[in-house]
Amino acid sequence: MILITGGAGFIGSNFVLDWLAQSDERIVNLDKLTYAGNLHNLSSLSKDPRHIFVQGDIGDTKLVSQILAQYQPRAIINLAAESHVDRSIHGPEDFIQTNILGTFRLLEAVRAYWNELESITQQNFRFLHISTDEVYGSLTQNVPAFTEEHRYKPNSPYSASKASSDHLVRAYHHTYGLPVLTTNCSNNYGPFQFPEKLIPLIIVNALAGKSLPVYGDGQQIRDWLFVTDHCSAIRRVLEAGIPGETYNIGGWNEKPNIEIIQTICTLLEESFPSSTFHKLITYVKDRPGHDRRYAINATKIERELNWRPAESFETGIRKTIQWYLNNQKWIANIQTGAYREWIEKNYSRLR
Ligand code: NAD
Ligand code: TYD
Repeated sequence: MILITGGAGFIGSNFVLDWLAQSDERIVNLDKLTYAGNLHNLSSLSKDPRHIFVQGDIGDTKLVSQILAQYQPRAIINLAAESHVDRSIHGPEDFIQTNILGTFRLLEAVRAYWNELESITQQNFRFLHISTDEVYGSLTQNVPAFTEEHRYKPNSPYSASKASSDHLVRAYHHTYGLPVLTTNCSNNYGPFQFPEKLIPLIIVNALAGKSLPVYGDGQQIRDWLFVTDHCSAIRRVLEAGIPGETYNIGGWNEKPNIEIIQTICTLLEESFPSSTFHKLITYVKDRPGHDRRYAINATKIERELNWRPAESFETGIRKTIQWYLNNQKWIANIQTGAYREWIEKNYSRLR
């Protein structure tokens, strides 16, 4: 069986559903259930014995050691993190706690477990750490996309904390021989994404007739990947990646934010011809230290592991919008008091 951390979040829940749709190998899911974790995402598995959910913190060494001893996973996929740049600007502490200290404690528990495995099980074991392209910092226009050799230059508390965790993972391979793999992926979008991130926020606000906030001039560029393509890349790296290596994952889909927002408005107007969502677009004050451009060169994973994304942005964004239209109850469920407070706090600063 395998152990996933953060499996009730956006990418994690997509990964768990995808994994069990493709294989019968059991999956233990350790998630703290912060504001971003949502067990409703996994309600279709509530009676499925292949999915075992444990609520807890990756930094809880005793709990993690117990899980490892009890379930003896052959691999661990570490997705648990604080993941939102704007929140890291308001309050970096949780990011240091989970992304740095939590990953360190998880690595320590895993190292102790791995040390005791028999030789062949030890060799086949994998620790796959899921990271981000944001560790590489910001690109200017017309320079080549990030390769795995690009220097780390993180700019936000979020990306700095992810970069720290990547370095720790690397060191555990170099120093202790732990068979680790690291992936650095571009911006994901798709079902179950919490509507604090750009694409779901724009869809949810538009459906509610609220303003669609564009930070600064809206010309910042992100490289978008549909979440199930990220899941297939993770599966492929786990299956065939070389321990100690890092793999960039991206969709070859660089787009300025304003274009994303306009596309969502246009597609929503197809579904609701009498509405004009474009008029809700509102320019607001920029995010401090806002990275201008991210772009992933995904040649290595394509060449060495024969992985390519299946979705284009055009197909992925249609599926995403349709999912949010079909799942208004899911949206209503997460719009708790805590969510409303966050929106008030962030966007009052940006007005
Ligand atoms: P998310 O915020 O939706 O989910 C994170 C999950 O981790 C939540 O379920 C949360 O409850 C859990 N969690 C947080 N702290 C924890 C802790 N201390 N112990 C156990 N569980 C904890 O994030 P996401 O967008 O699904 O991202 C998952 C991972 O992928 C993160 O490591 C992120 O850095 C990385 N990543 C995300 C993107 C993206 O565009 N979303 C892109 C590249 C990489
Ligand atoms: P986000 O989804 O927060 O991801 P990240 O900052 O990790 O790339 O934001 C994506 C881009 O959209 C980023 O350039 C910031 C911008 N943005 C807005 O313009 N308005 C918003 O309300 C949000 C949440 C993001």
